[in-house]
Formats: sequence, C-alpha cells, structure tokens
Amino acid sequence: MSEPFFFTWSKQRGATGLEIVGGEGPWFDTADGARWLDFGSLIYSANLGHGHPRMIRAIKAQADRLCLAMPQSVFPEKRALAEKLLALAGEGFTKVFFTLGGSEANENAIKMARLATGRFKVLSRYRSYHGATMGALSLTGDYRRPPLEPALVGAIKAMDCYCDRCPFGQEVTRCARECATQIDEVLRIEANVAAVFLEPVPGANGVLVPPDDYWPRVRAACDRHGALLVADEVLTGFGRCGHWLTHQRWGVTPDMITISKALTGGYGVLGAVLVHDRVARTFEDHALLAGLTQYAHPLGVAAALEALAIYEEEGLVERAARLGPALAEGLAALREAHPRARFSRGLGLLGALELDLDADGFARLGAALRTRRVHLFLRPTDRALIVAPPLCIDEATLSDGLDRIGAALAEVA
Ligand SMILES: Cc1ncc(COP(=O)(O)O)c(C=O)c1O
Repeated sequence: MSEPFFFTWSKQRGATGLEIVGGEGPWFDTADGARWLDFGSLIYSANLGHGHPRMIRAIKAQADRLCLAMPQSVFPEKRALAEKLLALAGEGFTKVFFTLGGSEANENAIKMARLATGRFKVLSRYRSYHGATMGALSLTGDYRRPPLEPALVGAIKAMDCYCDRCPFGQEVTRCARECATQIDEVLRIEANVAAVFLEPVPGANGVLVPPDDYWPRVRAACDRHGALLVADEVLTGFGRCGHWLTHQRWGVTPDMITISKALTGGYGVLGAVLVHDRVARTFEDHALLAGLTQYAHPLGVAAALEALAIYEEEGLVERAARLGPALAEGLAALREAHPRARFSRGLGLLGALELDLDADGFARLGAALRTRRVHLFLRPTDRALIVAPPLCIDEATLSDGLDRIGAALAEVA
C-alpha cells in the first residue's frame, strides 16, 4: 500500500517501513506480532533501548509541569541540562546552543564559525554525513550531496582516514598519516577556512576508525592555520564508542561539538552545539544571529536530562566500552568465516563488516536479515554492513545478533 507521506532518502515506488508498536531493551515489536533484534538502535539513537519506563515517566511528568516555551524562556530544566552538557564537554566549554536535531546543530555551528572567524569556508571529508539541510549537506561528502548541488560556496573537502583502503596507497604499518597532512596542506593553501568538521568515527560511511594520533594532528593543523575544529558527535556521542564523546578518547579539545540522536536516547527531539569559550566569547558583544522557534523545547530538554541520568546510573558508557571487544571479535569471526567479507572494523558498540557484494547481493542480504528479524544498516555504496546495538544489550543477545548475521551471510554467499 502506498502511504500518504514520503519515505526518506528513497524513491517512493515500492518503499515500505516497519510499524513499530513497542519494545523492551534491545528488542522492538511490530504490528504484525514479530519481535526484532534492534542492531541499529533504530537510527543510532535508541542507545538506552526500547520502552525504558523512566524515560516515559520523565516525559509525562514534564508534560504535566511545563510543555510550552519560547526561545527566550528560562526554566530550571533548560539551565540544568546546559550545565550538565558543558560539564560533559570538558574544561573551557561555556555555552550551549539548542537545536531540534543534528543537521541544525551543524548548520548553526557553521554560522557561529563564520561569525567568530570572519571567514566563510568550511572543510570536511568525502566519506562523511553531516545532515540533510543545505548547510549540513554542503559539509556532507557522500553520495547524497552531488544531486542537490550547488552547495554552499566555500564548502571544500579532503580525503578520508580510511585505513583498510588508504586513499594515499599507504600500508597500515608504514603509514605517515598523509590524510592528516592533506588537511594541513588544504588549510594552508585555502588560507581562510573558518572550520574543519569531522565525525570522530565516520559512522554511516562505513565506521572508519582513525589511528590515535589523527585527531591531535588535525587539531594542530587547525591551530596552525587559524581554523576552528568542530567534532560532529551526532552519531558517536553518548557512549556509542565507549566514551561519552568519542573525540575525548584522543585527548583533543575541539572548538565546538555537535550532538543529537542519543542525547535523548531517541525519546525526544533535541540537538545542540556545545561551544568553547574561545568561540562563545565572540557573542558577548556581537549578536548571535541564530535561533529556532522550538529552541530547547521542554519535552526534549526533559528527555535529555533523564537520558543523561540513565546513562550514568546504568553505567551504559562503560558497558559499551566493555562489550566493544566482544563485538569486534564477533565481527572478525564473521570476516574469517565468510568468503565475501573483506574487513571488519569498530570501536565500542559501533562496528562494520566490509563485504564484496554487488547491489543484488546486498538486496538478497537485506531480505535474509529481514527474515531473521535483525534491524541494522546496509550501505551498498560503501559495501558495508553496519551494526550499532543499544548500549543496554547483554553479551548473549549480542552473540545472538552476530549469529543471525552469520546465517544471513551464509545464505547469500
Ligand atoms: C554524523 C551525523 N551528523 C549529522 C546528522 C544529522 O542529524 P539529523 O538527522 O538529526 O538532522 C547525522 C544523522 O544521521 C549524523 O550521523
């Protein structure tokens, strides 16, 4: 049946979706009575799992307390959330700008970078996704941008840190970090770049985990050439890779951090830009020309506050770090066992298998996974199968999911 609404990112003819009616932990239920294993946290957002009773209670309680606000509104939950997020971001971060999602967070980070530096160019990488609105899409390097060009003037790109298929032809053991050097060179030649936007681990483009000195090198390049560094943590934030914010693993301080998705565990609509004082102080005496009608909506704010408390009290970030090796070993075993699997990669509870399959092979794999009721991401353009289970998953369920993937791969091999 054709629906009276658009399905996103696809042609409409033949497009379908799942009617999710409930769930519990890493499982969700559909209207046809099936129970699915959520190996994608819906869309990298349901890090707390499904049907969390505390989240539902907190949102209901907020609806009773205060449901309407305007951007200028001040209320205790808004202040408390901003303080908590700044503490998570670390020393030197002094202001939060709220948005409704990740694209808008990047959109507003572009605006702040332009206003703070007086420069207009932005640098990002080809294997990246930063959002669907025109500014964020201009940062996006992948296949979703070219059909919608012209993009923002001055949105320039560099090559990726893609160690399994190094774009510079380097062996991993002899790598001289040409990917970081290229960013340094591009910043030098372009001369007036306002900001560099990087996902700590590019997620949707195949889970490309950088070596430990990559981020420090990019930070140094930004400092050398007067560009700001923006960590796009929309997908990697809130425990996904075993850290509250994944860039923190490398001891680097960005100038801005963009967040959304798992900030509310997917239960609310909220994003944000966390802004270091280096940038924030610009706006003490210059107008911040940015704002949104639903800036810091009370229901989103309450969902985020409760989600942060649950991450902390249930130790979910530590849990993702602890389960990371089990996921990595499971994916490596699948790589060994299946002739079509080339590489396995991952960090924390974000992992990928790179597969030697054509479009038809990916379509057959998708069908085999659906039969086994596993929700995850297949990216034929990157030849990748990507998994990101809720952080509340246990080892036995993780292993169950990997077995289902193995059986599906065996069917298409
Ligand atoms: C790294 C990254 N940045 C930005 C976005 C855009 O976020 P949203 O879809 O909430 O606008 C996404 C969404 O997938 C993302 O993965």
